[in-house]
Amino acid sequence: MITEEQINEIKKKSDIVEVISSYIPLTKKGRNYFGLCPFHDDHSPSMSVSPEKGIFNCFVCGAKGNAISFVMDYEKVNYVEALKVLADKCGISLNVNTYKKKDNYDELYKIYDTTCKFYQNNLNTSSGKEAREYLKNRGISEDIIKEFNIGLALSFDKSVTKLLIKKGYKENTLVDIGISNKTDYGYQDLFLNRVMFPLWNIEGKIVGYSGRIYNTTDSAKYINTKETVIFKKGLNLYNYHRAKNEVRLANQVIIMEGFMDVIRAYSVGIKNVIATMGTALTKEQASLIKKLSNNVILCFDGDAAGNKATSACGNELIKIGINPKVVRLESNLDPDEYIIKYGVKKFKDKLNNCISFLDFRLNYLKEGKNLNDNEDLSNYINAVIDEVITIDDEILRELTLKKISSEINISFETLINKMWKKLEENNTSNNMDIPMENMEYYPPPPAYEYRPNEYKTNKKISKNVINDTNIVDKYTKAERKILFYMLHDKELTYKYEKVFPYLPTKIYRFLASEIMYFVKKYDTISISDFLNYLSSKQELVDLVGKILNYDYDENYTEEEITDYFKVLREYNFKSETERLTELLKNESDLEKQIELANKIMNLKKGVEESARD
Ligand code: UTP
Ligand code: MN
Repeated sequence: MITEEQINEIKKKSDIVEVISSYIPLTKKGRNYFGLCPFHDDHSPSMSVSPEKGIFNCFVCGAKGNAISFVMDYEKVNYVEALKVLADKCGISLNVNTYKKKDNYDELYKIYDTTCKFYQNNLNTSSGKEAREYLKNRGISEDIIKEFNIGLALSFDKSVTKLLIKKGYKENTLVDIGISNKTDYGYQDLFLNRVMFPLWNIEGKIVGYSGRIYNTTDSAKYINTKETVIFKKGLNLYNYHRAKNEVRLANQVIIMEGFMDVIRAYSVGIKNVIATMGTALTKEQASLIKKLSNNVILCFDGDAAGNKATSACGNELIKIGINPKVVRLESNLDPDEYIIKYGVKKFKDKLNNCISFLDFRLNYLKEGKNLNDNEDLSNYINAVIDEVITIDDEILRELTLKKISSEINISFETLINKMWKKLEENNTSNNMDIPMENMEYYPPPPAYEYRPNEYKTNKKISKNVINDTNIVDKYTKAERKILFYMLHDKELTYKYEKVFPYLPTKIYRFLASEIMYFVKKYDTISISDFLNYLSSKQELVDLVGKILNYDYDENYTEEEITDYFKVLREYNFKSETERLTELLKNESDLEKQIELANKIMNLKKGVEESARD
């Protein structure tokens, strides 16, 4: 737990010049220091650092902030992690592991490290000869084998499961994390006779494997580790931790489908690459990419599936404000095969001649259509116009239509009129397109009617939320405690969902919704993954840091929780009663008065009943 005092100490001791110059060289000019800005492709020092004000400022790209935000941006880490980095730099020891108590996965990471060494060793034994040949034939060098920790799983008699059990790990644990299987002959390795490619989480810890066949063809090409507490596929991207720095240097990130493609690109010196591993891009992965760079190139396999994946992935990125570029490889080749066949230079040419996502989409819409056929042509025009109306920029819209018009020999006026007509239709029929996504994040308050008056609520409580030194009222305390325990134990989140109390403070309510969303999706609550998931919502990241810092006991009792829920229910009842009473006062219609009075009576009865529970 990082205490308020420790945070202050870190802030006090972290000299911004020292911090920044540990990453990039600074030179003194007058009162300030200057250096090459790491947040854009800088060629003359545009970033100034003011030791007096404790801030940095780039006059070209506009990046600015203090020591903490510098570390956050540079290292691509969240607030709490940045504090850890700074504490390290200025020699403050933090006992930060304590708040990970219930989700302490160190043992699991250790198991994976052991398996990795085991598999690596196998590759160097005499039984590994065939696999070594396989890798060699694919042009994977010794260096790359080392760098990517490539290993080998052999047959039953060379079982890593046995070794791990001998080391004292429980069989169930090994099964749970996807290393072993329970068979009729006891516990056995899940991966057999496969070349093993470790999969890292975004922090660079090994959390799973992809195992490839190499001496047979009658089995699935790859087997991957299942979802486990430490391996959440939708929160991972292959090579993310290695690519981080390279992306900064290149000011660009390249996304591929397969990890073999990434390994190939990496081995020929293109290192700002990550892979989706052949699955659809999740929202969380999209924001991870955005954390790296806004300059994204999609370079998927050259086949039809790659086309589809490019389209889906691009759309996911567009949703979060990234307009990616696209490279398409011909003859169904994937990047790996392309580089082998045509060499690095040609591949780099491809990257340098990437097209816009819009152009890609327009080509994509044309595919498989015969534009001499009237029906196909009409379908194509409709699809194009649907695409064009999603463009925000009016000039780009017109230019696109002009281009299409000359291509298909239909007048520009016809196309633009059709577009306006479509826009009008959409405006009248479709007036609820924005909130849907938010709904998922911030589910509406519970179905029951107790909906406290937000304005009043915030006024009463906000003082305490902002100023922590105040003695908090019991409602705020209940909210904080519930959130604190939700962040430590997923079971409480499930309970919260069942009871669904209406948290009086809006931002707390938002956080609870995010936790709920995360736990339901991944069935775990690991603080670091959760913070990464939240990363674009700085306000909530800070709030998590704050809540974890409360000096609460990590263990809680059922009664305690029931009590907090009760307190909140009481709050809901109270504020709803107040609201209804107010309404009753101003109501002149007798019928409605009776209805309101009844509601109030029922509410009060509810309070009494719950008090007796
Ligand atoms: P590809 O089939 O394009 O693999 O699948 P690749 O990268 O070309 O592999 P090589 O060159 O044949 O060795 C792309 C990604 O989809 C996943 C893997 O993560 C792979 O990197 N995949 C593919 C599987 O999980 N299982 C499979 O059977 C195939
Ligand atoms: Mn391939």
